[in-house]
Amino acid sequence: MASGGADVGAVLEDIGIVAEHPGMRPALETAAACAEFPYPVLITGETGTGKDLFAKLVHRLGDRSTKPFVVVNCAAIPENLVESTLFGHVKGAFTDAQKDRPGKFEAADGGTLFLDEIGDLPLSAQAKLLRVLEDGELDRVGSDKPVKVDVRIIAATNRKLGEAIAAKRFRGDLFFRLNSGEIRLPPLRERRSDIPRIALRLLEGFNRNSRRQRQLSADALTRLQGYDWPGNVRDLRTVITRAVMFSGGRDVLGADDIKFDDTLKPDPFAYLPEPFEGFDVKQYNDEVRRRLFEKALRMAGGNQSQAAKLLGVKPQAVSGFVNEQKKDSNGTS
Ligand SMILES: Nc1ncnc2c1ncn2[C@@H]1O[C@H](COP(=O)(O)OP(=O)(O)O)[C@@H](O)[C@H]1O
Ligand SMILES: [Mg+2]
Repeated sequence: MASGGADVGAVLEDIGIVAEHPGMRPALETAAACAEFPYPVLITGETGTGKDLFAKLVHRLGDRSTKPFVVVNCAAIPENLVESTLFGHVKGAFTDAQKDRPGKFEAADGGTLFLDEIGDLPLSAQAKLLRVLEDGELDRVGSDKPVKVDVRIIAATNRKLGEAIAAKRFRGDLFFRLNSGEIRLPPLRERRSDIPRIALRLLEGFNRNSRRQRQLSADALTRLQGYDWPGNVRDLRTVITRAVMFSGGRDVLGADDIKFDDTLKPDPFAYLPEPFEGFDVKQYNDEVRRRLFEKALRMAGGNQSQAAKLLGVKPQAVSGFVNEQKKDSNGTS
């Protein structure tokens, strides 16, 4: 694979991206293809899947690689400062604006602006961003003299922007502008064969800074490979760090040194829908309750008092539920 003369393999190595699993190929190919053109790129994937690394990759593979690469985490800026941070301001635009200041867009001029957590950008800033994408110019806050900028946008999100659009918290027209090229990063559990390599790479990092040279046993690697990694590579890093720190005098880390803890368990509410106008929380709760009761009854093989124990309710609640269901199915059929 070649892109604008840059050697993809060398850049991957330099940035520290491990991506040998075939499931990473579409992401790598899209990154290389997008790098050639100055159009916006959207990077999606769960937390810890390498969105930051891939933003860097796109920048490095393109012909802007020697120009600025400016990062803005949209979720980390207080809402009232978002616009002046991105677009700059002129003296007197607001109380603290003591002199003219360029924003991140102007800082990234000629290069790349990486807008991380784009889903958290307030609507007013989204409108301004759309204008820069369409006209290549912006107004600093408090000014109406347009400033021309030439900036490639890379945006990243770990949330489903589709839901945010349905909830009218994200502009559909901005979304379509941004995702002319979309890089989808698969979760680590869908590319398990990369886990040992990434783990060894992380360990090498520790070894470089230490007089002790640690190794991971085959058992340790197997254990790492079997885990589901809800927080992806970020959690893998945490687990390796912990294994190294608490390995005592041993240089070979075994399966027992690999400790997953509760904080790494998947959030059972991770797939809660985002509320929107017209959403019915009561109906949603009723549905959740119905499914839990059905599940408990299935698990208890239809035994109602056993199901009640599993649910932490009185047996009457379960028999009441069963009667309700009977009535419903009689009524509707
Ligand atoms: N493919 C990969 N190969 C090696 N390390 C990775 C890879 N993806 C992510 N990492 C590491 O995992 C951590 C989280 O990556 P990051 O790019 O910040 O994820 P995200 O932005 O998607 O939350 C970082 O320490 C990064 O170096
Ligand atoms: Mg990130």
